[in-house]
Amino acid sequence: MGIISETYNDSGIVILTIERPKALNAINREVMQGFNHFFFEGYKKYEKLTGVIITGSGRKAFVAGADIKEFSNHNREEATKLSTYGHNTYFLIERFHVPVIAAVNGFALGGGCELAMACHMRIAGEHARFGQPEVNLGVIPGYGGTQRLVQLIGKGKAIELLLTADMIDAKEAHRLGLANHVVPSGMEVQMAESILKKIGTKGPIAVAKVIETVNAHFDSQIHAFEKEQVEFGKSIDSEDGREGAAAFIEKRRPVFKGK
Ligand code: CAA
Repeated sequence: MGIISETYNDSGIVILTIERPKALNAINREVMQGFNHFFFEGYKKYEKLTGVIITGSGRKAFVAGADIKEFSNHNREEATKLSTYGHNTYFLIERFHVPVIAAVNGFALGGGCELAMACHMRIAGEHARFGQPEVNLGVIPGYGGTQRLVQLIGKGKAIELLLTADMIDAKEAHRLGLANHVVPSGMEVQMAESILKKIGTKGPIAVAKVIETVNAHFDSQIHAFEKEQVEFGKSIDSEDGREGAAAFIEKRRPVFKGK
């Protein structure tokens, strides 16, 4: 088994599980390379792909952060490179054309909370704990935490969590909008699968365009309202768009082809 195990089911869902339970699934170079490879090209081996779930092995941790032991001796250049590679990898996840859900089965700290935030949704087990404890180590988040936490929960609360390093439980994460749902411990993946199965019945072109257009909101180079108009036009003019409207009018279920 690799450092990230990969299972695929007949609903077209891939489950990626980080296999470092003794290190609370901390993200070392090998884990980051595994994610980079999968979201860059590894996924292409699956003819049908409707969604991806990321989770951690064991019951204690989703991911307890970047691997502190690995980066502790990095010089400035090495640490910057580590951060850049992490950013590029998490962008691949955030911009992926099918939904990616974090099944948060325990601690999601530092680079682990950042990984969960790069996913499109987060399902928290009741025992999950979220936090950005980097300031405890005298450093700042390096995988997008200062940006995505603000995007998800707003500046005031984000800056409090980033500065105090406080951990919050699943209920609080849900209240703040960081977790989409809280489920009994052990049910995280199942809940994520049921959401992905529902999305899997929708038009794939539309699903990809929703992700792309929502992401555009956070890209200062793009006029996101204009982008929505253009992408709406393209979606209407796609085979799936025609099929969806025809199926409604003919009172039948649409058959989408992803074209
Ligand atoms: N990196 C490397 N190893 C880690 C780790 C991490 N982030 N988190 C936990 N581990 C290891 C521990 O060193 C320990 O290994 P050993 O048995 O070999 O000593 C093992 O996992 C179990 O951990 P603990 O004994 O500490 O377990 P605990 O139940 O007492 O505490 C915890 C759990 C509160 C999560 C604690 O492990 C902890 O505070 N971990 C570090 C959390 C953290 O600071 N994360 C941020 C990292 S920095 C970062 O992520 C920067 C970035 O944005 C890029």
